[in-house]
Amino acid sequence: MAAGLTPGVLRAQPEASGLGAIARQHGVTFGAAVQDSLLQKDADYARAFATEPAMLVPEWAAKWAALQPEEGRFETAALDTILRWGQAHAQPVRGHALVWHNSLPDWVVAALGEGRERALSVLGAHLDHVLAHTRTQIRDWDVVNEPIANPPGSDEPQTAPGDLRDTPWLRALGPGYVETALRMARERDPTLRLTLNEYGVAEDTPAAAEKRRRLLALVRGLLSRNAPLDAVGIQAHLQLANPFRPEPFAAFLGALREMGLAVLITELDIRESWQAPQDLAARDALVAERASAFLACALGAGVRTVLTWGLTDKYSWLATEPAVALPGGRAHRGLPLDAAFRRKPMWDAMARAFRGA
Ligand code: XIL
Repeated sequence: MAAGLTPGVLRAQPEASGLGAIARQHGVTFGAAVQDSLLQKDADYARAFATEPAMLVPEWAAKWAALQPEEGRFETAALDTILRWGQAHAQPVRGHALVWHNSLPDWVVAALGEGRERALSVLGAHLDHVLAHTRTQIRDWDVVNEPIANPPGSDEPQTAPGDLRDTPWLRALGPGYVETALRMARERDPTLRLTLNEYGVAEDTPAAAEKRRRLLALVRGLLSRNAPLDAVGIQAHLQLANPFRPEPFAAFLGALREMGLAVLITELDIRESWQAPQDLAARDALVAERASAFLACALGAGVRTVLTWGLTDKYSWLATEPAVALPGGRAHRGLPLDAAFRRKPMWDAMARAFRGA
């Protein structure tokens, strides 16, 4: 527990244990995405991170633009802050994300346009440096993030044909880039857990069903070629405007697990629709209800690691990202702690789900 912090902002907690401790008693690891700068400048934030999670993932500090903003200049100070915190609080850190189309500095996009050899050498150099630096502490990396194209009916459908998202990586290395990245990671660290991370595959919409099909096809292809792949991460940025039904999601998780893969929930949060009621209690009840249904399904289908994308509504990307903000200046309430770090019904729903795991 961080010393010297004012506990006044936290309401009297009904129980001292955080979600991480509760989950652990039931064989589940609960973690959360963390921002290194806030650990240092917001004592309440630090206190929440000392109390709740049993695992961390950097929300920004392990993305390409953070780690190698200029070619050959590696910046690990922010990530190191998180690694030190993780060590001090016995919270293992997972890595996010090595190959992604976002948070990619312009110099990488330019280099990827210079041909296959150049692309391979840029990727190889990044993996060399980053995996060597994090080797003793990060044992699970999102090697490729968001490889699947959004089908028609999604928020941002892809117009180019194909199951894979049209990205600088795909254009530089072709559809084999996912396998290439996995093999390069395995060569550099044979016992690292290699994870593919994807969003938009949890809900009961035609677009999500198609995205599940595409992801399963990618994974089947990779495994049929003996590509090194250990786990699939389901981001789970859920939206109350979309229906959720356990059957199709459980079947999808079952299919992944039958292929011998671990499945993690990596970025859970719950977005309300513009029709969300004004009343806070009513809004929180809807969010909690969705968290219950989703987690009961995931845990029932064998998921043993659940991370939320942040802990508090105060700093959630749902609040800071204008594209997902609610109208009328209302903020989303999609994480277990509210903006004053109080536990919400979503927290209770998560604790109940872990206890029932
Ligand atoms: C978001 C972070 O929360 C923001 O702070 C950042 O500016 C952009 O990225 N899927 C992912 C995450 O895999 O990396 C994204 O995180 C949210 C969507």
